[in-house]
Amino acid sequence: MTDQALSADPTVPTKPTSASRTTLSHIMTAHDTNLLGTVHGGVIMKLVDDAAGAVAGRHSGGPAVTASMDEMVFLEPVRVGDLVHVKAQVNWTGRSSMEIGVRVVAERWNESTPATQVGSAYLVFTAVDADGKPRPVPQVAPESERDKRRYQEAQIRRTHRLARRRAIKELREKRAAEGIDD
Ligand SMILES: CC(C)(COP(=O)(O)OP(=O)(O)OC[C@H]1O[C@@H](n2cnc3c(N)ncnc32)[C@H](O)[C@@H]1OP(=O)(O)O)[C@@H](O)C(=O)NCCC(=O)NCCS
Repeated sequence: MTDQALSADPTVPTKPTSASRTTLSHIMTAHDTNLLGTVHGGVIMKLVDDAAGAVAGRHSGGPAVTASMDEMVFLEPVRVGDLVHVKAQVNWTGRSSMEIGVRVVAERWNESTPATQVGSAYLVFTAVDADGKPRPVPQVAPESERDKRRYQEAQIRRTHRLARRRAIKELREKRAAEGIDD
């Protein structure tokens, strides 16, 4: 069944985006810094994975594992004392996988300016059963126009991910068939 047919299948249960939307908030400390004195990118990535994992677990009603993380973008440095909010939601669902979109914003401890967006990422989580095998997830039902745009954009990313994987696999098979050993 294609992704499009799946999203239109009335037998697959649905769940609204808002049912699993999650925000994790964290104050950055001196333990989180890199050699430049700003917050280490890996600290932010851990928070992103945590928030996305919470969303995936809530949406799928059980365990889910990180299958991929792409387009992790750092827009502005995060500093010690900043209150960082990591906001995550399900953008798209397949049969067993979910794309989770994450937005990271920082409230500067020493400025009265509005929170600044400091990063964003897209992760794919796959829901798994007790044996670690993929299990079906409810289809996400986007609610707002923004949710619907995110759903459509996630479908584009899914198409590109699959095409890239297929193209690389075919190239490797071709090289192997030609006897090229690297
Ligand atoms: C993710 C995992 C469960 C996929 O298992 P698999 O046997 O390859 O399953 P499938 O190929 O049937 O893929 C299942 C779903 O995951 C998606 N998926 C698998 N690998 C993916 C990847 N690298 N990127 C994006 N999606 C992926 C598939 O598209 C499929 O989605 P769908 O069911 O919605 O169509 C398995 O590779 C795994 O356990 N990986 C380790 C995950 C982990 O431990 N993460 C934490 C790292 S410390």
